[in-house]
Amino acid sequence: MAAKLLEGKLFAAKIREEAGRRASELKEKTGVTPGLAVIIVGENPASQVYVRNKHKACTELGFHSESVELPEDTTLEQLLAEIKRLNNAPEIHGILVQLPLPKALQKYESEVLEAISPLKDVDGFHPVNVGRLVTGQKALVPCTPNGCIKMLELAGIPIEGANAVVIGRSNIVGKPMLNLLLSRNATVTICHSRTKNLAEVTSKADILVAAVGKPGFVTADMVKSGATVIDVGINRIAPKKLVGDVDFEAVKEVAGAITPVPGGVGLLTIAMLMMNTVDAAEMQLNG
Ligand code: GUN
Repeated sequence: MAAKLLEGKLFAAKIREEAGRRASELKEKTGVTPGLAVIIVGENPASQVYVRNKHKACTELGFHSESVELPEDTTLEQLLAEIKRLNNAPEIHGILVQLPLPKALQKYESEVLEAISPLKDVDGFHPVNVGRLVTGQKALVPCTPNGCIKMLELAGIPIEGANAVVIGRSNIVGKPMLNLLLSRNATVTICHSRTKNLAEVTSKADILVAAVGKPGFVTADMVKSGATVIDVGINRIAPKKLVGDVDFEAVKEVAGAITPVPGGVGLLTIAMLMMNTVDAAEMQLNG
């Protein structure tokens, strides 16, 4: 294997350590313990696992944690009332509504996310935080793309001046990734399903980020020799088999550094959520 393996657990441990240290310092200086509330509506099993893992991470780092479990038939009004209560709760600094919402509430997703106070929006999905990120102001930033950037920085992979190509234009990964890379002075191209000559574009990338949701989409011929390849895809191809968007076995022979799936950037998301919760607590204290 030619490429250096960028293992999520090493970076996640460093990020958690930093979040834990900052939380202790905050507590010492101000007496405030960072608090995270996670709302889950319904009984999606994958979401229940995520919520349990978030609660566990909070407990391990000494954060205050509240899990709000609402039934499948919760109305929009009831959900908004819960968000309002948490917006006004002084012990809570971060609020996350676990997605996807049950079918009946999905058409209200924007309304639900916009009901969260932008200062407590640790997912970074509120339009105020999106706008702040785009205009280069201090913002709460979506955890997965922010984790990818933190990983590049910790791994010492230069971003400034690099040609970065992002495949996928979702609000959760592609678009924030574009803005985070741009704010660090990369030259960024974003590709999507209508992009012409995709392989020609991606093979110029020093940093290639795949966030398309298609197993094995990025093949070796699309990757420049020595490039850093970040695979954000999580595709379940069999009951117990997860793969990314990158044909790992072939691409690792060409790339300079590569993240595996599982065991790659997925592990950074909860660590960054902890970091965002500390950021949110500090922002609320400093006004
Ligand atoms: N479901 C899967 N990933 C996420 C995420 O990052 N945030 C929220 N709120 N829900 C999710």
